[in-house]
Amino acid sequence: MERYRSDLEGSLRRVYGDQVDAIWPRLEALLKRSFGERPTELRRLDEARLLRPDWLQAPEMIGYVAYTDRFAGTLKGVSEHLSYLEELGIKYLHLMPLLKPRAGENDGGYAVQDYKAVREDLGSMADLRSLAGELRARGISLELDLVINHVAEEHDWAVKAKAGYGNYRDYFLMFPNREQPDLYERTLPEVFPDFAPGNFTWNAAARSWVWTTFNSYQWDLNWANPNIFLEFVDIILHLANQGVEIFRLDAIAFIWKRMWTDSQNQPEVHDLTRALRAAARIVAPAVAFKAEAIVAPGDLIAYLGQRDHHGKVSDMAYHNSLMVQLWSSLASRSTRLFEQALLAFPPKPTNTTWGMYVRCHDDIGWAISDHDAGMAGTVGWGHRAFLSDFYSGAAPGSFARGQVFQANPRTGDRRISGSAASLAGLEAAETGAEVESALRRLRLLHAVTIGYGGVPLLYMGDELALTNDYSYASAPEHALDNRWMHRPQMDWDKAEERRDPQTSAGKMYAALRSLIQARQHLPHLHASIESRVMRSPNEHTLLLRRTHPQGNMLAVYNFTNEFQALPAWVLREVVGAYPRDAISGHEWNLTNEEVALEPYGAYWLIEQAH
Ligand code: GLC
Repeated sequence: MERYRSDLEGSLRRVYGDQVDAIWPRLEALLKRSFGERPTELRRLDEARLLRPDWLQAPEMIGYVAYTDRFAGTLKGVSEHLSYLEELGIKYLHLMPLLKPRAGENDGGYAVQDYKAVREDLGSMADLRSLAGELRARGISLELDLVINHVAEEHDWAVKAKAGYGNYRDYFLMFPNREQPDLYERTLPEVFPDFAPGNFTWNAAARSWVWTTFNSYQWDLNWANPNIFLEFVDIILHLANQGVEIFRLDAIAFIWKRMWTDSQNQPEVHDLTRALRAAARIVAPAVAFKAEAIVAPGDLIAYLGQRDHHGKVSDMAYHNSLMVQLWSSLASRSTRLFEQALLAFPPKPTNTTWGMYVRCHDDIGWAISDHDAGMAGTVGWGHRAFLSDFYSGAAPGSFARGQVFQANPRTGDRRISGSAASLAGLEAAETGAEVESALRRLRLLHAVTIGYGGVPLLYMGDELALTNDYSYASAPEHALDNRWMHRPQMDWDKAEERRDPQTSAGKMYAALRSLIQARQHLPHLHASIESRVMRSPNEHTLLLRRTHPQGNMLAVYNFTNEFQALPAWVLREVVGAYPRDAISGHEWNLTNEEVALEPYGAYWLIEQAH
């Protein structure tokens, strides 16, 4: 409390002013109670984390992201597959939304009805606790989603608000007529223009327009009400005491609303995150936060802490921009825009890390700014349109098999759904050579994310190169949402093929394993150091440099299906004449004039001691 009180109180005062005096005694009581309830083993973990505050930044950190039911049926089922995760080298498991959602359509669990109960078909809170314990015993941290922007309209708070009970209407943003909503709508974007247009929904029982950024059944919370803050401190600490170590702050950018803005990335978001983190540190210092802010690079960095917030907000944030650029360069065969986007990235605080990913459960939105596109010699809207055509398979010569998600005629945006393997050409591949190319593309994308210096987050099934699952179309609650095509069932038969080097699954698995093993032994990949992009003389290749006290590292990637040449001196200047490639183990000779990079080649060159 001594250590974090000023942080907690200061941030709260900036948001809530004098209302803090009224909530402070309740907050203190809540922290004391939660601390009292914290189990001994978790307190031991707290101590361990205080001794090793950089645990999330370590090169051994590798995450795996899965739906409990799709991976293993139930929470108990997950326990039976821990050796599978260990074999891959996993140190962190993100189980997709598993708290009790509303019945029927629930946005993949992102419409929570009860934050203190587990979805019944997956198990109970006791099962979650025991799974967390088993994971912990194997050195694997459990991550859960914290849906913080909205609740299901069936959540107790919303039910009470509809009934006009107590102060519960103040938990939400409710308006008697269209006057305010219409004003807000002038500057608000639409997240799901296709199946949930607009940002407000009429609720007859409450006789109000309710703020609903996402689906009409996901009611946005009113974070201007300090009771919401108290409720979430209670939820976070309750779950932390069950053994949850990392919280994914879902849609965090949206929690604070302001007229005449897009109501994203408002300064209060960062004060609130800082206050939540301080509360978590006081009771459960083992806990870390990951920001899910899919926003422009200039806005993103604030989620890891800028200026006064430096190092005091989230510990990790998704590197959405890098994921987008991976797919963009794969389609265009050029890395000019990739370089431009990374050059425009402000440095992150040294005690934070990026969440690196090739694919996740969501669609891919072409977050490419017109400015960056212009600087890279292309046109923003044209390139974005090309990418949508390419990845939906419509463009001539495309190897991808994705589908358009949420076409927005007003903005021209067309996001893309599809599994990594299908987007990279495995589904469309007919010849052995095409299969090889698709697998090489996937290996390349994983190499960039695993070798970047953040936490690689492997999405379930990608280790076996699983292709699209079209069965969603016959499930009524999923049929309208084609993101389900890349949320497949785990294929355990295919998983058996992982040891067979003749199969696609076996080749993918082996490629990933070798990247993961190389990463685990490379101190150069500690996240306290930044990867910096170097302008490459060859526009088809990407060069990422890491300046490390133990020697420099230079990652070299070829985004084409042909051999590419680079002048050797460009590499030699960074890693000397005889670097070692940490992936293959080979020593390179850079005394010649040129080096040749294999089709879709990926190399992590490490400067060697003389
Ligand atoms: C996040 C989730 C997405 C969900 C949305 C609303 O963006 O990743 O799947 O639809 O939040 O909770």
